[in-house]
Formats: sequence, structure tokens, C-alpha cells
Amino acid sequence: MEDHIRFDREQCELHLLDQRLLPTEERIVVCRTLADVVEALQVMVVRGAPAIGVTAGFGAALALAEILRRGGGDWRAAYDAALDVLAAARPTAVNLRWGVDRIRRLWRAAGDMDAAALLERIKDEALAMQAEDIAICRAIGRAGEGVIGDGQTVLTHCNAGALATAGYGTALGVIRAAREAGKRLRVIADETRPFLQGARLTAWELQRDGIEVTVACDNACALLMGRGMVDVVVVGADRIAANGDTANKIGTCGVALLARHFGIPFYVAAPLSTIDPATPDGSAIPIEERPADEVRCLGGRQVCPDGVPVYNFAFDVTPAAFISGIITEKGLLKPPYATTIAAALSA
Ligand code: MRU
Repeated sequence: MEDHIRFDREQCELHLLDQRLLPTEERIVVCRTLADVVEALQVMVVRGAPAIGVTAGFGAALALAEILRRGGGDWRAAYDAALDVLAAARPTAVNLRWGVDRIRRLWRAAGDMDAAALLERIKDEALAMQAEDIAICRAIGRAGEGVIGDGQTVLTHCNAGALATAGYGTALGVIRAAREAGKRLRVIADETRPFLQGARLTAWELQRDGIEVTVACDNACALLMGRGMVDVVVVGADRIAANGDTANKIGTCGVALLARHFGIPFYVAAPLSTIDPATPDGSAIPIEERPADEVRCLGGRQVCPDGVPVYNFAFDVTPAAFISGIITEKGLLKPPYATTIAAALSA
């Protein structure tokens, strides 16, 4: 699946498969303005760290096109402000800022190029980012498929699949590559409350690919591991600190702790763009808090009494000590991560 993020270059429109409605409905949301893109990111029409990074590139194109349509004034100041708004749409996945920074660097390098010419360059760059992301995911798959043995069961949390990237996926890319290498495997998808990325998106993707998948409640993890039903865990990441501490979907840290308890290897699969060398460790990673109603309601039905507050932290941080390896497009990084991450980033 590579058409869930589609850019119409002529119309300067971004067509996004609405991930909120899957698996029961496939509807496209069309973004024409910066505000459209920011909303699509915030309500999670599009989600997943690399997909957010790619969306940032197209969002940057839409924002400049909009400023050009309006005409007049200082387009440079307006565009700087627009890029700041885009970069702030969601706080945890560093790929969003990475994508915006890449466009800013292109702009700086273009010198005093006029806005119309710059827009075409930004469209080229955004399309290149999209194509690169698919190639990077395939490289992650090749680098990581060895962690899955023939006949094994892989547990994953959230959705780190084609939908969360430009295509193929990171954690699911590793699973897809293992399958392509001829291994027989099964996947357990944690349902991933409250947005249900595992139940709705991971299960949908894997079923479409003919990969055996079973959905389990998040709180079944200990039972499944204790019964020997899980051989290896592979998850994605939203931000990896310089020391290897990894932010990913809420619940991931608990899975890692259980994996350690039961002696099960726990891998993170992510592109180098998810590593933030400016964040020294996990304590410095901002954790997004999302609207209470995502927890308070289920399928449109209220499931908490009126007036009871809820916690809706969208991510948690898994300490590097619980991670067996970080699978990147540059290969499988092992501890000590401060050293291996720095080497991978400088290579
Ligand atoms: O809130 P989301 O759905 O954007 O969170 C996504 C995740 O936590 C994914 O596991 C992560 O972005 C990796 S995607 C390849």
C-alpha cells in the first residue's frame, strides 16, 4: 500500500486515506491549505512518525501555494510562520520537525529564488522524501528480518506499517521482509487503546497481505508471553533519544518490561530520521496528551461516568536498557546505543 498519501502536483492537493475510519470505510480526505494539513495531523487522518514526516513535506508545499494565492505582503515572513505552525502540529514524533527542517534547509539553500520557483522545488523535495521513505522502510526490513525465525510469532504494538509510513512499514516492514524471505510467521497485534491502531490498522494491513494476524487486548500481553505464545517483539518509534531511550505508542514500555521479564527479545524498527541526537535521553522527549474523549468514549459511546477525568498520554518511553536492538536502514544497532547511534548518524 503506497497510495494512502497521494500528492496531486497540478492542483497542489494532498489526498489522504482517512485512517480514523479503517477498517470499515475507505474514504479520502483532500487537503488544500496549511490548516487542512494541520487538522489532518492532529485528528490523525494521517499518523505514524514517518508518514507524519512525509506529510510535512507536502504540507510545506500547500502552505507556500496558499501564500502565493493570497498574494501581497512579505511572503518570506508568512512562510516562516506557516512552517512553525506545521512543525508544532504534534509534539512527540520528531519526524514532523525533521520534515519541516528539510524543507527549510532547501529554502535557505535556494537563496533569493522567487516563491513560485521555490514552490516547484519544494514539491520535488516532498515527492523525493516520499519515495525515499519507502526505500528506507525496505532497507529496514532487509536489515531486520533476521530477528524473526522461521515459524515464530511476532508481537507488535500500535501500527508501524505501510499506513504509518509512505509504504511497507518499519516494524511491519521487518515482518514483511521475513515473510518475503520465505519464513512462516504469525503476528499478534496489540489492539492499542484508545485509538486502536493495532486492531484497526495493523490487522487490516496484514490481513490484506495474507499474513496471519491475531488481535489481542493490550492487557493480554503478560498472559500471552507467560504461555510462550510470543517469540519476539518488534515495534516502531516516534522519537529515539541519543542514548537509545525510545518514545512509542502508549503501552510500549509495558510490553518491553514484560518481554524482559519473560526473556523475549524486544526490537525497535525505525528510520534514522526518527533519531533525535538533540534529545539526550527519554526524559527530554515531549509526550503528547490527547483529547479526553478518545479514552472516555468507545465507538461513539461514553464508557466513563460523567465528570470522571481521564489520562490520555499518547506515548511512553521505553528505556534503552530494555531494547535488544534498534533496526535502521543502516543496519541493526546494538548497545551501547550512545556509541552505535552516533556512528550510524555520522556514517
Ligand atoms: O499516535 P500515532 O498513531 O501517530 O502513533 C504511532 C506510533 O506510535 C507508531 O508506533 C510509530 O509512529 C512508528 S510508525 C512507523
